[in-house]
Amino acid sequence: MLFEFGFSDRKLLQARSKRQASHSVPAAICSHRSSTYLPPAICRVRIPRPGYTNPMQPLSLEQILSDEQLRKSEFPVAAEKIFLGHAAVCPLPRRVVDAMTDFALSCAVKDQEDAYAPGRMVETRQLAARLLGAQPTEVALVGPTSLALSYVAAGLTFRRSDNVLVYHDDYPSNVYPWMALAQKGVQVRFLNIRELGRIRKIDVEGQVDESTRLVALASCHFLSGWRIDVPAIGEFLRQRDILFCVDGIQTLGAFPTSVEHVDFFAADAHKWLLGPLAAGLFYVRQDVQDRLQPTVFGWHNVRCPNYVAQENIVHPPDARRYEAGSANLLGIAGLEAAMRLLLDLGIERIAAELLRKRNVLIPALKSKGFTVLHESAPPEHASGIVTFLKPGTDMAQLHSRLTENNVVASLRTDRTGQRYLRFSPHFYNTDAELRHAVDLL
Ligand SMILES: Cc1ncc(COP(=O)(O)O)c(C=O)c1O
Repeated sequence: MLFEFGFSDRKLLQARSKRQASHSVPAAICSHRSSTYLPPAICRVRIPRPGYTNPMQPLSLEQILSDEQLRKSEFPVAAEKIFLGHAAVCPLPRRVVDAMTDFALSCAVKDQEDAYAPGRMVETRQLAARLLGAQPTEVALVGPTSLALSYVAAGLTFRRSDNVLVYHDDYPSNVYPWMALAQKGVQVRFLNIRELGRIRKIDVEGQVDESTRLVALASCHFLSGWRIDVPAIGEFLRQRDILFCVDGIQTLGAFPTSVEHVDFFAADAHKWLLGPLAAGLFYVRQDVQDRLQPTVFGWHNVRCPNYVAQENIVHPPDARRYEAGSANLLGIAGLEAAMRLLLDLGIERIAAELLRKRNVLIPALKSKGFTVLHESAPPEHASGIVTFLKPGTDMAQLHSRLTENNVVASLRTDRTGQRYLRFSPHFYNTDAELRHAVDLL
Protein backbone atom coordinates (compact mmCIF):
# COMPACT_ATOMS: atom_id res chain seq x y z
CA MET A 1 0.00 0.00 0.00
CA LEU A 2 1.20 3.45 -0.86
CA PHE A 3 0.14 5.88 1.82
CA GLU A 4 -0.13 4.73 5.35
CA PHE A 5 -0.20 7.80 7.49
CA GLY A 6 2.82 8.14 9.71
CA PHE A 7 5.45 6.79 7.42
CA SER A 8 4.22 7.02 3.86
CA ASP A 9 6.41 9.74 2.37
CA ARG A 10 9.48 8.66 4.38
CA LYS A 11 9.04 5.09 3.24
CA LEU A 12 8.65 6.28 -0.31
CA LEU A 13 11.82 8.33 -0.07
CA GLN A 14 13.79 5.33 1.20
CA ALA A 15 12.50 3.28 -1.68
CA ARG A 16 13.40 5.90 -4.28
CA SER A 17 16.26 3.78 -5.60
CA LYS A 18 13.75 1.24 -6.85
CA ARG A 19 12.15 3.87 -9.02
CA GLN A 20 13.82 3.22 -12.34
CA ALA A 21 12.94 -0.44 -12.22
CA SER A 22 9.25 0.32 -11.91
CA HIS A 23 9.29 2.44 -15.06
CA SER A 24 8.81 -0.25 -17.62
CA VAL A 25 5.77 -1.37 -19.49
CA PRO A 26 5.37 -4.37 -21.75
CA ALA A 27 5.65 -3.50 -25.41
CA ALA A 28 2.35 -5.28 -26.01
CA ILE A 29 0.51 -2.56 -24.15
CA CYS A 30 2.27 0.21 -26.00
CA SER A 31 1.41 -1.32 -29.32
CA HIS A 32 -2.29 -0.79 -28.60
CA ARG A 33 -1.80 2.94 -28.75
CA SER A 34 -3.35 4.59 -31.73
CA SER A 35 -2.03 8.13 -31.33
CA THR A 36 0.72 9.11 -33.73
CA TYR A 37 1.83 12.25 -31.98
CA LEU A 38 1.82 11.42 -28.28
CA PRO A 39 4.17 8.50 -27.68
CA PRO A 40 4.89 7.75 -24.01
CA ALA A 41 8.44 8.36 -22.92
CA ILE A 42 8.81 4.86 -21.52
CA CYS A 43 7.19 2.95 -24.34
CA ARG A 44 9.53 0.39 -25.82
CA VAL A 45 7.86 0.79 -29.21
CA ARG A 46 8.72 4.42 -29.77
CA ILE A 47 7.06 6.54 -32.39
CA PRO A 48 9.63 9.13 -33.51
CA ARG A 49 8.78 12.78 -33.08
CA PRO A 50 10.00 15.07 -35.83
CA GLY A 51 12.83 17.35 -34.73
CA TYR A 52 12.72 16.07 -31.22
CA THR A 53 14.98 13.39 -29.82
CA ASN A 54 15.20 13.40 -26.05
CA PRO A 55 11.85 13.88 -24.32
CA MET A 56 13.41 14.93 -21.04
CA GLN A 57 15.85 17.38 -22.62
CA PRO A 58 15.75 20.70 -20.74
CA LEU A 59 14.07 23.45 -22.70
CA SER A 60 14.47 27.19 -22.72
CA LEU A 61 11.89 29.77 -23.62
CA GLU A 62 14.14 31.16 -26.34
CA GLN A 63 14.37 27.71 -27.96
CA ILE A 64 10.61 27.25 -27.88
CA LEU A 65 9.92 30.64 -29.43
CA SER A 66 12.60 30.38 -32.09
CA ASP A 67 12.06 26.81 -33.29
CA GLU A 68 8.56 26.37 -34.66
CA GLN A 69 8.90 22.61 -35.04
CA LEU A 70 9.97 22.23 -31.44
CA ARG A 71 7.19 24.56 -30.25
CA LYS A 72 4.55 22.52 -32.03
CA SER A 73 6.06 19.27 -30.83
CA GLU A 74 6.19 20.35 -27.19
CA PHE A 75 2.82 22.13 -27.30
CA PRO A 76 0.73 20.10 -29.74
CA VAL A 77 -2.16 22.57 -29.51
CA ALA A 78 0.00 25.10 -31.39
CA ALA A 79 -0.11 22.84 -34.43
CA GLU A 80 -3.91 22.89 -34.35
CA LYS A 81 -4.97 26.38 -33.31
CA ILE A 82 -4.04 29.67 -31.73
CA PHE A 83 -4.79 29.01 -28.10
CA LEU A 84 -5.32 32.17 -26.04
CA GLY A 85 -7.42 30.71 -23.24
CA HIS A 86 -5.02 29.76 -20.45
CA ALA A 87 -7.03 31.71 -17.89
CA ALA A 88 -9.85 29.23 -18.59
CA VAL A 89 -8.65 25.64 -19.08
CA CYS A 90 -5.26 24.93 -20.66
CA PRO A 91 -4.37 22.25 -23.18
CA LEU A 92 -1.66 19.91 -21.95
CA PRO A 93 1.98 20.16 -23.08
CA ARG A 94 3.39 16.97 -24.58
CA ARG A 95 5.61 16.35 -21.55
CA VAL A 96 2.58 16.38 -19.29
CA VAL A 97 0.65 14.03 -21.56
CA ASP A 98 3.68 11.74 -21.75
CA ALA A 99 3.99 11.60 -17.97
CA MET A 100 0.31 10.77 -17.58
CA THR A 101 0.41 8.24 -20.41
CA ASP A 102 3.45 6.53 -18.93
CA PHE A 103 1.74 6.22 -15.61
CA ALA A 104 -1.56 5.10 -17.12
CA LEU A 105 0.25 2.39 -19.06
CA SER A 106 2.00 1.17 -15.93
CA CYS A 107 -1.40 1.02 -14.26
CA ALA A 108 -2.62 -1.43 -16.88
CA VAL A 109 -0.42 -4.18 -15.49
CA LYS A 110 -0.38 -3.47 -11.73
CA ASP A 111 -2.21 -2.16 -8.78
CA GLN A 112 -2.26 1.59 -9.52
CA GLU A 113 -0.57 2.48 -6.25
CA ASP A 114 2.24 0.02 -6.92
CA ALA A 115 2.63 1.53 -10.38
CA TYR A 116 3.35 4.92 -8.84
CA ALA A 117 7.11 5.01 -8.44
CA PRO A 118 8.36 5.14 -4.85
CA GLY A 119 9.52 8.61 -3.87
CA ARG A 120 7.45 10.39 -6.47
CA MET A 121 5.01 11.87 -4.02
CA VAL A 122 7.86 13.27 -1.94
CA GLU A 123 9.39 14.83 -5.04
CA THR A 124 6.06 16.26 -6.13
CA ARG A 125 5.55 17.95 -2.78
CA GLN A 126 9.10 19.31 -3.01
CA LEU A 127 8.42 20.76 -6.46
CA ALA A 128 5.18 22.29 -5.23
CA ALA A 129 7.00 23.77 -2.24
CA ARG A 130 9.60 25.32 -4.57
CA LEU A 131 6.89 26.84 -6.70
CA LEU A 132 5.14 28.31 -3.66
CA GLY A 133 8.17 29.26 -1.58
CA ALA A 134 6.86 26.95 1.14
CA GLN A 135 7.85 23.75 2.94
CA PRO A 136 6.76 20.35 1.56
CA THR A 137 5.00 19.72 4.87
CA GLU A 138 2.74 22.70 4.10
CA VAL A 139 1.43 21.29 0.81
CA ALA A 140 -1.66 19.12 0.45
CA LEU A 141 -2.78 17.68 -2.87
CA VAL A 142 -6.54 17.94 -2.76
CA GLY A 143 -7.64 18.80 -6.29
CA PRO A 144 -9.87 21.70 -7.29
CA THR A 145 -9.38 25.22 -5.97
CA SER A 146 -13.01 25.33 -4.85
CA LEU A 147 -12.48 22.31 -2.62
CA ALA A 148 -9.37 23.70 -0.93
CA LEU A 149 -11.06 27.09 -0.33
CA SER A 150 -14.10 25.29 1.07
CA TYR A 151 -11.83 23.34 3.44
CA VAL A 152 -10.54 26.64 4.79
CA ALA A 153 -13.97 28.19 5.22
CA ALA A 154 -15.39 25.07 6.87
CA GLY A 155 -12.38 24.15 9.01
CA LEU A 156 -11.78 27.37 10.95
CA THR A 157 -13.58 28.14 14.17
CA PHE A 158 -15.47 31.42 14.03
CA ARG A 159 -17.37 33.32 16.70
CA ARG A 160 -20.77 34.78 15.86
CA SER A 161 -19.46 38.34 15.97
CA ASP A 162 -16.60 37.63 13.54
CA ASN A 163 -16.50 38.90 9.99
CA VAL A 164 -14.69 37.82 6.84
CA LEU A 165 -13.86 40.17 3.99
CA VAL A 166 -14.17 38.89 0.42
CA TYR A 167 -14.77 40.37 -3.03
CA HIS A 168 -18.20 39.63 -4.48
CA ASP A 169 -16.96 39.91 -8.10
CA ASP A 170 -14.22 37.33 -7.62
CA TYR A 171 -14.65 33.95 -9.28
CA PRO A 172 -17.54 32.20 -7.45
CA SER A 173 -15.17 29.53 -6.06
CA ASN A 174 -13.71 32.22 -3.83
CA VAL A 175 -17.07 33.74 -2.87
CA TYR A 176 -19.53 30.95 -2.13
CA PRO A 177 -17.47 29.06 0.49
CA TRP A 178 -17.36 32.31 2.49
CA MET A 179 -21.01 33.18 1.90
CA ALA A 180 -21.87 29.76 3.31
CA LEU A 181 -20.39 30.92 6.63
CA ALA A 182 -23.39 33.21 7.12
CA GLN A 183 -25.23 30.07 8.32
CA LYS A 184 -22.82 29.99 11.27
CA GLY A 185 -23.54 33.61 12.13
CA VAL A 186 -20.34 34.96 10.58
CA GLN A 187 -20.75 38.34 8.92
CA VAL A 188 -19.66 38.12 5.28
CA ARG A 189 -18.47 41.52 4.05
CA PHE A 190 -17.94 42.41 0.43
CA LEU A 191 -14.98 44.59 -0.41
CA ASN A 192 -16.03 47.90 -1.90
CA ILE A 193 -13.85 49.04 -4.79
CA ARG A 194 -14.37 51.37 -7.73
CA GLU A 195 -13.00 49.47 -10.73
CA LEU A 196 -13.56 45.80 -11.51
CA GLY A 197 -10.90 43.68 -9.80
CA ARG A 198 -8.65 46.62 -8.86
CA ILE A 199 -7.95 45.75 -5.24
CA ARG A 200 -5.15 47.65 -3.54
CA LYS A 201 -3.66 47.35 -0.09
CA ILE A 202 -5.30 50.63 0.90
CA ASP A 203 -8.74 49.18 0.11
CA VAL A 204 -8.12 46.25 2.41
CA GLU A 205 -6.64 48.45 5.15
CA GLY A 206 -9.74 50.62 5.17
CA GLN A 207 -12.27 47.79 5.24
CA VAL A 208 -11.13 45.48 8.01
CA ASP A 209 -11.85 46.04 11.69
CA GLU A 210 -11.16 44.40 15.03
CA SER A 211 -13.74 41.67 14.30
CA THR A 212 -12.27 40.66 10.94
CA ARG A 213 -10.87 37.13 11.24
CA LEU A 214 -9.99 36.47 7.62
CA VAL A 215 -9.59 38.13 4.23
CA ALA A 216 -9.97 35.94 1.13
CA LEU A 217 -8.79 37.34 -2.21
CA ALA A 218 -7.68 36.10 -5.61
CA SER A 219 -4.05 36.76 -6.54
CA CYS A 220 -5.34 38.00 -9.90
CA HIS A 221 -8.86 38.91 -10.93
CA PHE A 222 -10.07 36.33 -13.44
CA LEU A 223 -11.92 38.83 -15.58
CA SER A 224 -10.08 42.13 -15.39
CA GLY A 225 -6.57 40.65 -15.00
CA TRP A 226 -5.60 42.96 -12.10
CA ARG A 227 -2.92 41.28 -9.98
CA ILE A 228 -2.98 42.17 -6.30
CA ASP A 229 0.07 42.83 -4.15
CA VAL A 230 -0.07 39.61 -2.14
CA PRO A 231 3.05 40.22 0.03
CA ALA A 232 2.02 43.78 0.99
CA ILE A 233 -1.58 42.90 1.82
CA GLY A 234 -0.43 39.76 3.61
CA GLU A 235 2.10 41.63 5.71
CA PHE A 236 -0.52 44.15 6.79
CA LEU A 237 -3.00 41.40 7.70
CA ARG A 238 -0.39 39.41 9.64
CA GLN A 239 0.35 42.51 11.74
CA ARG A 240 -3.36 42.77 12.51
CA ASP A 241 -3.58 39.04 13.28
CA ILE A 242 -6.06 38.54 10.44
CA LEU A 243 -5.81 35.34 8.41
CA PHE A 244 -5.14 35.68 4.67
CA CYS A 245 -6.48 33.13 2.19
CA VAL A 246 -5.43 33.43 -1.46
CA ASP A 247 -7.01 31.88 -4.54
CA GLY A 248 -3.84 31.67 -6.62
CA ILE A 249 -5.03 29.83 -9.70
CA GLN A 250 -4.68 32.84 -12.00
CA THR A 251 -1.01 33.41 -11.17
CA LEU A 252 0.61 30.13 -10.07
CA GLY A 253 2.95 29.08 -12.87
CA ALA A 254 2.75 32.49 -14.52
CA PHE A 255 4.21 34.82 -11.87
CA PRO A 256 6.57 34.28 -8.96
CA THR A 257 4.66 33.27 -5.86
CA SER A 258 5.63 33.75 -2.26
CA VAL A 259 3.40 32.55 0.51
CA GLU A 260 5.54 34.15 3.20
CA HIS A 261 2.67 36.38 4.32
CA VAL A 262 -0.15 34.05 3.35
CA ASP A 263 -1.91 31.52 5.58
CA PHE A 264 -3.81 29.52 2.97
CA PHE A 265 -3.27 29.32 -0.78
CA ALA A 266 -5.19 27.22 -3.30
CA ALA A 267 -4.61 26.69 -7.01
CA ASP A 268 -5.64 23.93 -9.33
CA ALA A 269 -3.28 22.95 -12.16
CA HIS A 270 -5.48 23.46 -15.21
CA LYS A 271 -4.66 27.07 -16.08
CA TRP A 272 -1.22 28.70 -15.97
CA LEU A 273 0.38 25.63 -14.41
CA LEU A 274 -0.33 23.72 -17.65
CA GLY A 275 -1.41 20.65 -15.71
CA PRO A 276 -4.51 18.47 -15.66
CA LEU A 277 -7.87 19.34 -14.15
CA ALA A 278 -8.44 18.61 -10.46
CA ALA A 279 -4.75 18.15 -9.56
CA GLY A 280 -4.26 21.32 -7.54
CA LEU A 281 -2.11 22.49 -4.67
CA PHE A 282 -3.36 23.52 -1.26
CA TYR A 283 -0.90 25.36 0.96
CA VAL A 284 -1.56 25.66 4.69
CA ARG A 285 1.05 27.51 6.72
CA GLN A 286 2.58 25.23 9.33
CA ASP A 287 1.71 27.56 12.21
CA VAL A 288 -1.99 27.61 11.35
CA GLN A 289 -2.42 23.90 10.67
CA ASP A 290 -3.60 23.34 14.24
CA ARG A 291 -6.22 26.06 13.75
CA LEU A 292 -7.54 24.64 10.48
CA GLN A 293 -9.39 21.48 11.42
CA PRO A 294 -9.76 18.83 8.72
CA THR A 295 -13.40 18.56 7.72
CA VAL A 296 -12.96 15.33 5.78
CA PHE A 297 -11.76 12.07 7.30
CA GLY A 298 -10.49 8.76 6.00
CA TRP A 299 -7.79 6.13 6.02
CA HIS A 300 -5.18 8.50 4.66
CA ASN A 301 -5.46 11.37 7.08
CA VAL A 302 -6.31 9.54 10.28
CA ARG A 303 -3.93 7.04 11.84
CA CYS A 304 -5.12 3.49 11.16
CA PRO A 305 -2.39 0.85 11.38
CA ASN A 306 -3.30 -2.21 9.29
CA TYR A 307 -6.47 -0.39 8.22
CA VAL A 308 -7.93 -0.87 11.67
CA ALA A 309 -9.94 2.09 12.91
CA GLN A 310 -8.59 3.33 16.26
CA GLU A 311 -10.22 4.74 19.37
CA ASN A 312 -9.13 8.29 18.60
CA ILE A 313 -8.73 10.53 15.62
CA VAL A 314 -5.03 11.27 15.16
CA HIS A 315 -3.96 13.27 12.11
CA PRO A 316 -0.53 13.45 10.47
CA PRO A 317 1.57 16.35 11.77
CA ASP A 318 1.59 18.11 8.37
CA ALA A 319 -0.65 19.15 5.49
CA ARG A 320 -1.43 15.53 4.61
CA ARG A 321 -4.04 15.90 7.32
CA TYR A 322 -6.28 17.49 4.64
CA GLU A 323 -5.99 14.51 2.24
CA ALA A 324 -8.65 12.07 3.39
CA GLY A 325 -8.39 9.17 0.95
CA SER A 326 -6.73 7.83 -2.17
CA ALA A 327 -4.76 10.32 -4.21
CA ASN A 328 -5.53 11.32 -7.80
CA LEU A 329 -2.26 9.75 -8.93
CA LEU A 330 -2.88 10.11 -12.64
CA GLY A 331 -3.53 13.81 -12.25
CA ILE A 332 -0.64 14.23 -9.83
CA ALA A 333 1.74 12.57 -12.33
CA GLY A 334 0.69 15.26 -14.81
CA LEU A 335 1.00 18.01 -12.21
CA GLU A 336 4.55 16.87 -11.44
CA ALA A 337 5.59 17.03 -15.11
CA ALA A 338 3.98 20.45 -15.50
CA MET A 339 5.77 21.85 -12.45
CA ARG A 340 9.11 20.49 -13.69
CA LEU A 341 8.58 22.15 -17.06
CA LEU A 342 7.72 25.53 -15.56
CA LEU A 343 10.48 25.48 -12.96
CA ASP A 344 13.02 24.51 -15.63
CA LEU A 345 11.93 27.40 -17.82
CA GLY A 346 11.99 29.77 -14.84
CA ILE A 347 8.96 31.51 -13.42
CA GLU A 348 10.61 34.96 -13.51
CA ARG A 349 11.37 34.44 -17.17
CA ILE A 350 7.80 33.30 -17.89
CA ALA A 351 6.38 36.33 -16.05
CA ALA A 352 8.55 38.74 -18.06
CA GLU A 353 7.44 37.06 -21.27
CA LEU A 354 3.75 37.32 -20.35
CA LEU A 355 4.10 41.03 -19.61
CA ARG A 356 5.93 41.50 -22.90
CA LYS A 357 3.07 39.79 -24.75
CA ARG A 358 0.60 42.03 -22.96
CA ASN A 359 2.53 45.01 -24.29
CA VAL A 360 2.22 43.60 -27.80
CA LEU A 361 -1.52 43.06 -27.47
CA ILE A 362 -2.61 46.32 -25.84
CA PRO A 363 -1.48 48.80 -28.52
CA ALA A 364 -2.74 46.48 -31.26
CA LEU A 365 -6.18 46.25 -29.61
CA LYS A 366 -6.32 49.99 -28.92
CA SER A 367 -5.47 50.80 -32.52
CA LYS A 368 -8.62 48.87 -33.47
CA GLY A 369 -10.72 50.94 -31.07
CA PHE A 370 -10.99 48.50 -28.16
CA THR A 371 -10.87 49.49 -24.53
CA VAL A 372 -8.56 47.22 -22.53
CA LEU A 373 -9.30 46.77 -18.83
CA HIS A 374 -6.57 48.21 -16.60
CA GLU A 375 -4.54 48.98 -19.69
CA SER A 376 -2.17 51.23 -17.74
CA ALA A 377 -1.67 48.87 -14.83
CA PRO A 378 1.94 48.99 -13.63
CA PRO A 379 3.89 45.72 -14.18
CA GLU A 380 3.38 44.65 -10.58
CA HIS A 381 -0.40 44.71 -11.10
CA ALA A 382 -0.48 43.47 -14.70
CA SER A 383 -0.96 39.79 -15.55
CA GLY A 384 -1.28 37.34 -18.42
CA ILE A 385 -4.94 38.32 -18.83
CA VAL A 386 -5.87 40.97 -21.41
CA THR A 387 -9.59 41.72 -21.40
CA PHE A 388 -11.23 44.16 -23.79
CA LEU A 389 -14.50 45.50 -25.13
CA LYS A 390 -15.83 48.06 -27.56
CA PRO A 391 -19.09 49.80 -26.65
CA GLY A 392 -21.73 49.10 -29.28
CA THR A 393 -19.93 46.02 -30.60
CA ASP A 394 -21.34 42.53 -30.21
CA MET A 395 -18.49 40.79 -28.39
CA ALA A 396 -20.20 37.39 -28.74
CA GLN A 397 -20.11 37.79 -32.50
CA LEU A 398 -16.41 38.63 -32.38
CA HIS A 399 -15.86 35.59 -30.22
CA SER A 400 -17.61 33.39 -32.80
CA ARG A 401 -15.44 34.85 -35.53
CA LEU A 402 -12.31 33.96 -33.59
CA THR A 403 -13.61 30.44 -32.94
CA GLU A 404 -14.43 29.92 -36.61
CA ASN A 405 -10.87 30.95 -37.43
CA ASN A 406 -9.30 28.53 -34.97
CA VAL A 407 -8.49 31.10 -32.30
CA VAL A 408 -9.44 30.16 -28.74
CA ALA A 409 -10.38 33.15 -26.57
CA SER A 410 -12.84 33.52 -23.70
CA LEU A 411 -16.13 35.36 -23.76
CA ARG A 412 -16.94 36.64 -20.29
CA THR A 413 -19.72 38.69 -18.71
CA ASP A 414 -19.70 40.92 -15.65
CA ARG A 415 -22.43 41.47 -13.07
CA THR A 416 -24.08 44.18 -15.18
CA GLY A 417 -24.28 41.91 -18.23
CA GLN A 418 -21.46 43.67 -20.07
CA ARG A 419 -19.60 41.24 -22.30
CA TYR A 420 -15.84 41.12 -22.82
CA LEU A 421 -13.32 39.13 -24.77
CA ARG A 422 -10.39 37.80 -22.78
CA PHE A 423 -7.05 36.82 -24.26
CA SER A 424 -4.76 34.82 -21.99
CA PRO A 425 -1.69 33.71 -23.96
CA HIS A 426 1.02 31.66 -22.27
CA PHE A 427 4.77 31.82 -22.85
CA TYR A 428 4.66 29.51 -25.88
CA ASN A 429 2.33 31.70 -27.94
CA THR A 430 4.16 33.70 -30.60
CA ASP A 431 3.80 37.38 -31.45
CA ALA A 432 2.63 36.31 -34.90
CA GLU A 433 -0.24 34.38 -33.29
CA LEU A 434 -1.22 37.41 -31.23
CA ARG A 435 -1.15 39.70 -34.25
CA HIS A 436 -3.24 37.25 -36.27
CA ALA A 437 -5.85 37.05 -33.51
CA VAL A 438 -6.12 40.84 -33.32
CA ASP A 439 -6.32 41.11 -37.12
CA LEU A 440 -9.42 38.93 -37.04
CA LEU A 441 -11.31 41.36 -34.77
C1 LIG B 1 -10.00 32.80 -9.81
C2 LIG B 1 -10.48 31.41 -10.06
N1 LIG B 1 -10.62 30.57 -9.01
C3 LIG B 1 -11.02 29.28 -9.18
C4 LIG B 1 -11.31 28.80 -10.45
C5 LIG B 1 -11.70 27.37 -10.66
O1 LIG B 1 -11.79 26.64 -9.52
P1 LIG B 1 -11.67 25.06 -9.55
O2 LIG B 1 -10.21 24.72 -9.53
O3 LIG B 1 -12.37 24.66 -8.32
O4 LIG B 1 -12.35 24.54 -10.77
C6 LIG B 1 -11.22 29.65 -11.54
C7 LIG B 1 -11.59 29.16 -12.89
O5 LIG B 1 -11.90 29.85 -13.79
C8 LIG B 1 -10.78 30.98 -11.33
O6 LIG B 1 -10.63 31.83 -12.36
